[in-house]
Amino acid sequence: MVTWGRLGLGLALACVMTPVLAGQAELDAALAEYEQALAKQADPENGRKVYLTCAVCHRPEGWGTVDGVYPQIAGQLPSVIIKQLADFRAGNRSNPLMYPFSVPRILGGPQQMADVAAYVSQLPMTPHNGVGPGVDLALGEQLFQDNCVDCHGERGQGDAQDHIPAIAGQHFMYLIRQFDAIRSGARKNADSEMVKQIEGFTPREESAVLDYVARLRPPAEKLGRDGWVNPDFPGYVRDAMLGVPPPMPLPLQPPEPPPPPQLPELPPLPPLPEPPFGASGR
Ligand code: HEC
Ligand code: HEC
Repeated sequence: MVTWGRLGLGLALACVMTPVLAGQAELDAALAEYEQALAKQADPENGRKVYLTCAVCHRPEGWGTVDGVYPQIAGQLPSVIIKQLADFRAGNRSNPLMYPFSVPRILGGPQQMADVAAYVSQLPMTPHNGVGPGVDLALGEQLFQDNCVDCHGERGQGDAQDHIPAIAGQHFMYLIRQFDAIRSGARKNADSEMVKQIEGFTPREESAVLDYVARLRPPAEKLGRDGWVNPDFPGYVRDAMLGVPPPMPLPLQPPEPPPPPQLPELPPLPPLPEPPFGASGR
């Protein structure tokens, strides 16, 4: 299991051996911010306010969308949420939707990261997350036992200490996207041990294990009931954004108002030609 300590040592050694290590500065920046945020006394009430901007995409319940475009973040471990936020804004994870909402001007500093993580982590999880085809679950269970439990835990509950994500009950399509991004290196914050563990997976095995993971039930006390609506957001207009790309936060980069365009003087219109005979019938 890679802890930050071990990761730091590994990176230090890698630096001695290879003078240029791509991404070192970004990983350091995220690590520093992660530790600062962890050291804060979290205020979930302020986290609720911070969460207002997040709710547009992750929904007021934090359940994301079943198609996995927006992950469920409700019930995730606070240390994992903080780590992912720090990684997004340091550039260790890239996503054009999530990135602009992770920047300090919108999200705030380590205190706000800790606050929103505390708020989100206590939200109950969806009882109806997206799952896979359900055809290979025995294979999926075997693969999970052999390759994942050491880090993600028997029930896919993750590990707060080592900021290993809880993955049980996450939307299947989101799991697929992250698995692929981790394996290909597109997700630069990936755990190198995990990358090794999954590099030989065939598409069938990947689908089987992630379907199994998506169907793993979080403990009953973490699950929301059917149709639960977050009472913290009573005025939220549900589904107003369905099908519409979410608005970008304002102001991203306050643009200079453009100077009013200088319209050239238009020449007078030439007289209209006579309509051809018979063309004025309507
Ligand atoms: C414009 C839509 C949008 C908004 C607003 C948004 N997010 Fe996200 N968020 C996403 C998307 C999309 C992803 C998945 C990124 C990917 O696929 O790599 C994501 C991923 C995440 C993740 C990683 C989850 C995981 O398990 O990997 C966390 C944590 C998160 N968002 C928290 C937040 C918080 C906190 C806020 C508010 C400050 C927020 N998001 C606002 C779209 C958004
Ligand atoms: C050596 C430990 C280790 C092993 C083994 C491992 N993982 Fe991971 N995994 C991690 C860590 C650590 C992260 C988070 C890395 C980060 O973003 O900081 C992660 C992230 C993930 C994510 C992204 C979750 C999210 O919310 O963003 C998925 C999905 C995942 N692992 C699935 C699996 C599956 C399935 C297996 C087994 C086939 C597996 N992992 C094996 C350590 C491991």
